[in-house]
Amino acid sequence: MTDTNKPKHILVAVAWPYASGSRHLGHLGGAYLPPDIFARYHRAVGDRVLMVSGSDVHGTPITVRADEEGVSPAEIIDRYHPEIEQNWKDLGFTYDLYTTTGTDMHYEVAQDFFMHLFDNGYMYRKTTEQFYDTEVDRFLPDRYVEGTCPHCGYLDARGDQCDNCGRTLDPIDLVDPRSKLSATTPVLRETEHYYWKLSAFQEPLLEWLNTREGWRPHVINFAIGMVEDGLHDRAFTRDLAWGIPLPVDDLGEGKSIYVWWEAVMGYLSASKEWARLRGEPDAWKAWWEDPDAESYYFIGKDNVPFHAIYWPALLLGYGGLNLPTDVPANQFITFKGEKGSASRGVGRSISWYIDHFEPDALRYAVAINFPESNDTDISDENLIGRVNDELVATWGNLVNRVVAMTGRYFDGITQEQVGLDEQDDALIASIDEILAEVGEMISDVKLRAGLQRAMAGAQTVNAYLNEREPWRTAKTDTARTGTTLGVAIDAITGIAVALYPYLPFTTVRLLEACSVPMGEHGPSWDRPAVPAGTRLGELGPMYAKMEPFADDK
Ligand code: MF3
Ligand code: ZN
Repeated sequence: MTDTNKPKHILVAVAWPYASGSRHLGHLGGAYLPPDIFARYHRAVGDRVLMVSGSDVHGTPITVRADEEGVSPAEIIDRYHPEIEQNWKDLGFTYDLYTTTGTDMHYEVAQDFFMHLFDNGYMYRKTTEQFYDTEVDRFLPDRYVEGTCPHCGYLDARGDQCDNCGRTLDPIDLVDPRSKLSATTPVLRETEHYYWKLSAFQEPLLEWLNTREGWRPHVINFAIGMVEDGLHDRAFTRDLAWGIPLPVDDLGEGKSIYVWWEAVMGYLSASKEWARLRGEPDAWKAWWEDPDAESYYFIGKDNVPFHAIYWPALLLGYGGLNLPTDVPANQFITFKGEKGSASRGVGRSISWYIDHFEPDALRYAVAINFPESNDTDISDENLIGRVNDELVATWGNLVNRVVAMTGRYFDGITQEQVGLDEQDDALIASIDEILAEVGEMISDVKLRAGLQRAMAGAQTVNAYLNEREPWRTAKTDTARTGTTLGVAIDAITGIAVALYPYLPFTTVRLLEACSVPMGEHGPSWDRPAVPAGTRLGELGPMYAKMEPFADDK
């Protein structure tokens, strides 16, 4: 709510995980945890947040997995969508709606989008050659083909994208293509598709990208580089039955809209679905049509082309809807040097970590490692070390110490603050400053720095206590001791607000134990002064010290 004090409409758009397998910790730190921190902060300052996402249930990531297991795509989705949704619940994610791309609303929005692009002259039919597997008698869209990347020479590029250089691909661009369905080399066969006139957006996109401010360098540089290399028209449809059919039937059976083109429309369809469920079918417009609204797309860097180029191009072609304000993509988390992949056993599933960490401890250990500007390497040992050495040792112990002393010396009742001196005032002033700075960092999506800053506040309070020594003054000066602990509680509750977006479970417990009033969405972004005479509630230990895992990964 920065300069104007007027609540802003903020769309928090979170990448849609494929329901093709368990998501791993790299995904959590890359795309899924950052937006919850961002959304909680904006609600705390009074902004109107709409946070949406869902499971991405179409396309070859799903069907390749189903083919491998010899089951239907629906069976795969029924297994993983509930697991993913449960992960978000366990971690306390505050989605306004977490849905899937399989809803009627999503089909409607995707087909309406196609018709708009068609009516606006951005769609045409074209017959081209695509890869075909003669052994199994099927076309091989996207991930059914692997081969060598034409851009960087990576040997295991997928037909839709190269994992090494991040470029999006068309299977027929691959050098030495191989079918995933049989050992054969695919052959070319003619097929008709709708093509999207992406080339028409080269100039407008470049102009738009060149005027973005405050975007992360790796995002804006990648996007501008890709557009400058030239945007070519792209097939809008695929030879794949599992997906959203076109609203026109002139291509015949067995074709669907390319998963990526409809998945990005999920942000819009989920917003509309949210509005419908609320009984205010037009409520989504405040986030999509009002030019003062802001939208932030939280994704991993492999998704940059789709959110910084293709989705904006689709929006331009549709007309009348807001383009992204920012696309704060994270780089990758690596595990002891390897890129995470639950299927290859690199980086364990989010579910596994939820079973082994308290939710706030996991949120902390991941957030302090967010790969915001570089790939960031982690290990279980590192995560546990963060919990024990920082969360438990610096913050948890501080809170428990102050609450325990208030219990011991004053029956748990906060005292009148008398004779406040420069040191007391300086502590409180520094906490107010921290709260303002952390807020600014979060609105700039510098989430890791914001967390570090809030934790530095805990160290400041520890230093204050070491100087004032309430455990010593308790024997000689009751009034001074009560003041010291009262000031410390004011400082701690201020830090708890700064930490709230990151550690919602434990900070709310602490704030409630201090009788701090909570709004509909949690605390508001101010330092709560805890009045004298407040009886502190039962708190219990904030965090548990963790033991190393037997099989450290
Ligand atoms: N399913 C994609 C992935 O996991 C992300 C899609 S984000 C979208 O990489 F919203 F654009 F669909
Ligand atoms: Zn490549």
